Amino acid sequence: MSQPQVDATRIRDHVHRLAQQHPPVDLASADYTVHDRRAVRARFGHVMDYMARVEMEVERNVLELAVLLPGVSQTDRTFYADVWGPQEEHHGILLDTLGQHLGLPPVTANTGEVPARVRVLGALAHLPVVHEVIRLLYYLTGAATEKSAMLAYQAMSDGLAQMGEDPIKETVVDAIKVQEPGHFAFYRLSATEMVQSGAIAGWQLHLARLLRSRRYGLVGAGTREQRTDFGGVVVELGLDQQLERNVRDISRLETQLLWAHRQGLQVPGYALAAFREAAQMYRSRLGADGGPMAA
Ligand SMILES: [Fe+2]
Ligand SMILES: [Fe+2]
Repeated sequence: MSQPQVDATRIRDHVHRLAQQHPPVDLASADYTVHDRRAVRARFGHVMDYMARVEMEVERNVLELAVLLPGVSQTDRTFYADVWGPQEEHHGILLDTLGQHLGLPPVTANTGEVPARVRVLGALAHLPVVHEVIRLLYYLTGAATEKSAMLAYQAMSDGLAQMGEDPIKETVVDAIKVQEPGHFAFYRLSATEMVQSGAIAGWQLHLARLLRSRRYGLVGAGTREQRTDFGGVVVELGLDQQLERNVRDISRLETQLLWAHRQGLQVPGYALAAFREAAQMYRSRLGADGGPMAA
């Protein structure tokens, strides 16, 4: 599918529009009235806990980006430091507060520690050719993350509507959900512009493919335990019912940009395998424990 032409001005205008139209959600606007705390906790407790942690860890992601991408444009910096970061932090606070209203413990998030791996990559990123490969991977990872969040919040919103839990559906989940597509669009526009403008050469695309297929990361899942927890989000939201279709949606941008030469490729095998393995690990844990919130 051919993409419309994207240039730097269009991306800058998009970021400015997001800043104007989507200030961080007013924390005082949330209504935490819940009719059946136990039922909401049983159905969405695990998901809320995971999503709250990922949203809160954006604070660390902003620090990492400054190390990882020293040479980005002012538009990129404005996006991650002034628009995306503050919005996501409020998403984290809203979900964490909701979790506590449901009787869950406060979320433990790693917000301050930049891992050694990021520092090593950041040192390499001072070489412009490496920097651009990392920048493309940052956009592709961001797009997959935002698309995953969009699917997750949609599933939560639908589930809470079925349960008649309108106040938290509308003032927490939907208030968050409406901000994610603008983030996704930023990454889609930015990655598309890089490839269309020729900012990235053929061998750099090859390197990006290699790195992406070797080190595909599920959002917020650095450890085996966290990968299992991610699988829990997939399973508890029913996203595993049509896993291939969902991973195809999540990966569409990288399928188009990284794998354009593989005509007809529907979904990168490494992405589908990562989601499938996480869901299986969670099901095995459930089998051992007896239920998501058995305790
Ligand atoms: Fe978010
Ligand atoms: Fe987001």
